[in-house]
Amino acid sequence: MNSNEFVGKVAFITGAGSGIGRATALAFGAAGAHVVATDINSDSAQATADLVEHEGGRALGLCCDVTLSDDITAALTATVDTFGRLDIAFNNAGIEQPVAPLADISEDSWNRVVAVNLTSVFLCMLHQIPLLLQTGGGAIINTSSGAGVIGIRGQSAYTAVKHGVIGMTKSAALDYAAAGIRVNAICPGIIETPMMDRFSGGTAEGRARVTAQEPVGRMGRPEEIASAVQWLASDLGAFTTGHALVIDGGQTVGL
Ligand code: NAI
Repeated sequence: MNSNEFVGKVAFITGAGSGIGRATALAFGAAGAHVVATDINSDSAQATADLVEHEGGRALGLCCDVTLSDDITAALTATVDTFGRLDIAFNNAGIEQPVAPLADISEDSWNRVVAVNLTSVFLCMLHQIPLLLQTGGGAIINTSSGAGVIGIRGQSAYTAVKHGVIGMTKSAALDYAAAGIRVNAICPGIIETPMMDRFSGGTAEGRARVTAQEPVGRMGRPEEIASAVQWLASDLGAFTTGHALVIDGGQTVGL
């Protein structure tokens, strides 16, 4: 990767207050990008922006609930007002689904998982694409999951939306390929984040249970997802669009 290629580029990240989003914000900041760290939790968004600046980067921390169109447009307006443009969007905010067979999932739970993990990606792209078109293109990376490529027992809502993110990514990639906007998805495996702590219960047994799904024998680190996002956003990925990149230590390979 050209070590200077992100210098001065503007990277907008959702769910940047924690886990994969925060690691990616720090990676872009370290690479010289101007980072817009957004999260429904304004304190954690600001904390990520502070971390980026502490490492010598430039960042803006913003409260943005990705289920709300108005929040997204306000955050994107602040992005352009502060840094002048948008180059990279990482649509990453998401929530887990409590483990339950389909007939035990409440309508409220379904609606929330769809709103935060799927409709949000549509709303973000809806408002980001016109900005990217203004400057001749850019890169969008949407967070799917291993649950976007396989079924998982007890996860009907989560697998439905993560499959949906991949379908939407592929179609949007076709819509905007000729306009210079590349749209890709990432599919992380078991990654050591606060979400995974909640999902596993955070106990030694819970961690061992989820780690057992990983052929490499360990969880992934958020930084290992951030590096894949950066590759997709970089010129090394210039011919890659509509792709769902699985980064999962082999979790889904042998199933
Ligand atoms: P996390 O829970 O550590 O971070 C998610 C962030 O999203 C939090 O800061 C949270 O405040 C924010 N968020 C939640 N609802 C929001 C909303 N309505 N608007 C804006 N922000 C909101 O989770 P993690 O693990 O970093 O997950 C990030 C993404 O990666 C999610 O989309 C998740 O589904 C996906 N993923 C995670 C995997 C893992 O093993 N940790 C595996 C595969 C996918």
